[in-house]
Amino acid sequence: MIQNIKGMPDILPDEIGRWQFIEKKIRALMDTYAYREIRTPILEETALFVRSVGEHTDIVGKEMFTFTDQGETQMSLRPEGTASVMRSYIQHHMQMQSTFTKLYYMGPMFRRERPQKGRLRQFHQLGAEAIGLSDPLVDVEMIALLMSVCKTFELPGIHLELNSLGDAESRKNYRGVLQNYFSKHKPILSDGEKARLENNPLRLLDSKNPDLAPAIAEAPSILDHLTDPSKKYFDQVQQGLESIGIPFNINERIVRGLDYYSHTTFEVMVSGLGSQNTVGAGGRYDKLSSDLGAKETPAIGFAMGLERLLLSLEGKSLGETQPVRIEVIGLDEKAKSSAFQIGHALRESIPECTVNIQFESKSLKAALRHADKTQSNWACILGENEMNKNVVLVKNLKTSDQKEMQADQIARFICDTTVSPKLNKDKS
Ligand code: HAM
Repeated sequence: MIQNIKGMPDILPDEIGRWQFIEKKIRALMDTYAYREIRTPILEETALFVRSVGEHTDIVGKEMFTFTDQGETQMSLRPEGTASVMRSYIQHHMQMQSTFTKLYYMGPMFRRERPQKGRLRQFHQLGAEAIGLSDPLVDVEMIALLMSVCKTFELPGIHLELNSLGDAESRKNYRGVLQNYFSKHKPILSDGEKARLENNPLRLLDSKNPDLAPAIAEAPSILDHLTDPSKKYFDQVQQGLESIGIPFNINERIVRGLDYYSHTTFEVMVSGLGSQNTVGAGGRYDKLSSDLGAKETPAIGFAMGLERLLLSLEGKSLGETQPVRIEVIGLDEKAKSSAFQIGHALRESIPECTVNIQFESKSLKAALRHADKTQSNWACILGENEMNKNVVLVKNLKTSDQKEMQADQIARFICDTTVSPKLNKDKS
């Protein structure tokens, strides 16, 4: 039997209610912050990610699903959304429409990582990107948005970690300092780490090599190598967070696994997720636009893993309110087409209801068992007896009360008896 690809699970109908619940709440929250949705393709030219996320990062170096299309263009399944959003922003000249553009997206991302709890090969991100302004308050608002998402879902043990990678000059200084420092530990570096020492020494700081852990703990801090303007910017971000009561921890090891960052970087952890406890993360990326060949445009954003969000909500009822559900049951071949017409009319009359027409003629007992399993509220039953009398037997499945009536009376009867659904006046 062909199975799904490892780390790329199906999301089954039983789970979909939870997804739709969080998606709906997230969209409402994004509206509150005046963000507009953007949908970019899941396939992009590989060069986009090489130039943005960075050639020497794990994501681009070993985690992308890449293929050559028709022997010509190298394409990759997107490992993240920021690069695509910036590509689209540039391509569609969005800077002409507004000096400040706030965009969000939700959708699948792909990374060939070793699957484990909270780490998948196809996973979903909510991402937000604010493009056009370099202002500490924009950074504060972005972090506040990520925290709002966490608070909306009352995630347990929310914890914000903050760092600054400074401007290009700060990082250039710090790079040299780190290269010097880690050169002294060369004998314990793996081959991969030796390569990083040359091309991306900041990434050594989140190496998982246990032999290197003591050296990492003692490594010089980027915060001691920030230029004055970078230091001032970072101070203002911290003051802004304090002014709206968002607590944070400074963590100078947050260097992030993507190359495009500068200045503010941040990660939000929650409890109960084990080793994959970072639910959302992001930072400022002022140089990405120019790395992609366009005019330099400051920007900042974050992305949140929706599987991780749902994992941390496990066991919690997500307040999915079941819509009123009506089962229309035709008990023999003759009743089938009447049942179909009645079901169709009910859908038009009560748009908020779920109406399931049971096409397969089976026993009344089996039909009601199905209605019970699907937590239906009403059954509209049409058997030989009802067909002869030209009525429908309408049964309230919660109270077991039942009543015969004409087909065109059902919608009003159900709406009068049930609190929530509204009758479509045009169709009743
Ligand atoms: P990232 O840190 O690579 O950042 O990913 C953000 C979040 O996506 C992670 O904190 C995690 O919740 C989730 N995530 C990442 N990889 C996986 C995986 N394999 N399985 C499940 N969840 C995962 C970015 O992607 C940046 N684009 C964020 C950003 C937006 N920076 C600026 N704007």
